[in-house]
Amino acid sequence: MLQKISQLLEIVKGFEAHNKEQVEQFRLQYLSKKGELSQLFDMFKDVPNDQKKEFGKQLNFLKQVIQEKYDFLQSQFQSTEDVLQGIDITLPENPIRLGSNHPLSIVKNRIIEIFLKIGFVVSEGPEIEDDWHVFTALNFPLEHPARDMQDTFFIEKNPDVLLRTHTSSVQVRVMEHQKPPIRAVFPGRVFRNEAISARAHCIFHQIEGLYIDTNVSFADLKQTLLYFAKEMFGVDTQIRLRPSYFPFTEPSAEMDISCSICGGKGCNVCKYSGWVEILGCGMVDPNVLENCGIDSKIYTGFAFGMGVERITMLKYQIKDIRLFFENDIRFLRQFEAVL
Ligand code: DAH
Repeated sequence: MLQKISQLLEIVKGFEAHNKEQVEQFRLQYLSKKGELSQLFDMFKDVPNDQKKEFGKQLNFLKQVIQEKYDFLQSQFQSTEDVLQGIDITLPENPIRLGSNHPLSIVKNRIIEIFLKIGFVVSEGPEIEDDWHVFTALNFPLEHPARDMQDTFFIEKNPDVLLRTHTSSVQVRVMEHQKPPIRAVFPGRVFRNEAISARAHCIFHQIEGLYIDTNVSFADLKQTLLYFAKEMFGVDTQIRLRPSYFPFTEPSAEMDISCSICGGKGCNVCKYSGWVEILGCGMVDPNVLENCGIDSKIYTGFAFGMGVERITMLKYQIKDIRLFFENDIRFLRQFEAVL
């Protein structure tokens, strides 16, 4: 039997096929159920026990050689159609996984788009600022609590270097360098020394707006914000301006919109009041204009500032601000895909 195995090995090694039929012939002769390999395996049970080990080894080697030879012969005569059978070669190589826009980017871009349509431009300023641009030029009294170490991240060695606490600082930079008319929005990141919770974060985003020209009135401010609210939250949205205080605007107001969740009927988002606060605004204080080199006898203007997180939470009913910063893919995938 050993002799038979080595004979077969020689024959198989030397076998040549010239067409597919001969390959099939090879398979039938050696690999099929009634082929020579099977016959040898059948004979194996009669091999005396003490020789089984040696025979087994040889037999397995033969089997391997035959199989490899068969695979090789087959590959020689395989046509392109055989290879492609059942495969749609027009499909993309791998399914492409699309990323998605971050919800804050979606809302930020939407806000910018709304203001671009009425002639505003976009400007940006630095995140690392100085006291003048964040506080002093904006008419913050020296003892104002917003300057307090509790709220502002200062650089220890130089208290004049700080992380901006609001994007109102960009107003100052723009007014210092541009002559009116100015019509611009300033998106950006701001920083406050706050304990992180579901409702507050030490880093968040704001969009500031500024409009300076001759004869700009509070009516212009109100109409601009009404247009914004309707574009952002739907045509049925109503606005309400409540008197407020900011050092850099006079008069100042806070704007509420009719609750976009319940339409004003009352729900837990608006705490059953029907209204939700979304921004601060007012007429730019003449002191601020003068601080920035703009003649307050000729020019007037309005400003407003809103939190992007707040508006995004409202729009998508997101209950925890921390979700924006955790980059949990299960959260991010729920938003508009990037195409
Ligand atoms: N800077 C204010 C804040 O961070 C928001 C703000 C209020 C901006 C009134 C304005 C404004 O331009 O007129 O809370």
